[in-house]
Amino acid sequence: MDTMKKEKVNRVVLIGAGLVGSSYAFALINQAITEELVIIDVNKEKAIGDVMDLNHGKAFAPSPTNTWYGDFSDCKEADIVCICAGANQKPGETRLDLVEKNMKIFKTLVDQVMENHFDGIFLVATNPVDILTQAVKMFSGFPASRVIGSGTTLDTARFRFLLSDYFNVSASNVHADVIGEHGDTELPVWSSATIGSVPITEYIKTNPAYKAEDLDKIFENVRDAAYHIIQKKGATYYGIAMSLARVTRAILGNENCILTVSAYLDGEYGAKDVYAGVPTIVNRQGIREVVQLALTEKEQQQFDHSMKTLKDTLQPAVK
Ligand code: 2OP
Repeated sequence: MDTMKKEKVNRVVLIGAGLVGSSYAFALINQAITEELVIIDVNKEKAIGDVMDLNHGKAFAPSPTNTWYGDFSDCKEADIVCICAGANQKPGETRLDLVEKNMKIFKTLVDQVMENHFDGIFLVATNPVDILTQAVKMFSGFPASRVIGSGTTLDTARFRFLLSDYFNVSASNVHADVIGEHGDTELPVWSSATIGSVPITEYIKTNPAYKAEDLDKIFENVRDAAYHIIQKKGATYYGIAMSLARVTRAILGNENCILTVSAYLDGEYGAKDVYAGVPTIVNRQGIREVVQLALTEKEQQQFDHSMKTLKDTLQPAVK
């Protein structure tokens, strides 16, 4: 008799192997974030091709990730189900334009995940991400802590990258968040942005080469980055895939690190019953806590406007 207990290993199930999903798979394998990766896609041949292609590169990964083309029954043992499936933005479309199409797709997907007794954490990437994350919470009946959206993690990364470039300081020393809708109404929280531990608002006073107008332009470039990229190459995928990989690592590694994922707000930031990107402590349980930044009056107004936009989009979509 085999008395050896089967060792529990981390499993991520990826639903949707389009450009975002397959880039996420590539990032997971390259960084050896999970021991098992299951790929599910309506286009079976594409997903099988991805598994083959990814397997061929594994000899060069830090450690092997057991990767296979699977089905919804694989969700039962999964720690994370990451949904990247759905229609994506065409040039000229906003993220909110996708809501109806993707809501329908999500109902079918989440039902199948739940029928297979999934008991882990949902990570959602499909746009409009805040709204679809809320839809997953509704469709699954899961506690809010176990339903997470990519939110403004990518926007915050874009913001830190552009600020680090402007100030010529390592991005790891730039602390600055983009919060709200992952979309046109998001906002930068300048009031708590720092270079090292110096507020950016103070830091720019020390060098006349830095200008407040440049900072406004930097944020505009963050907010509109997806439009610029879509215009040039039709889609964005590497940045979002790396953001998803970062959130996955935070969950599986029980990191308690702060990321601006899309989290359910129940009074925080004066918002109720809405998902939005805010600084959040992420660990093995999912969302441990929403961190509250002290917003200025103007920032709070911008945030309120962003929440109203999300609610106005969600309400007709769930009727
Ligand atoms: C992005 O911001 C399109 O939401 C995607 O890159």
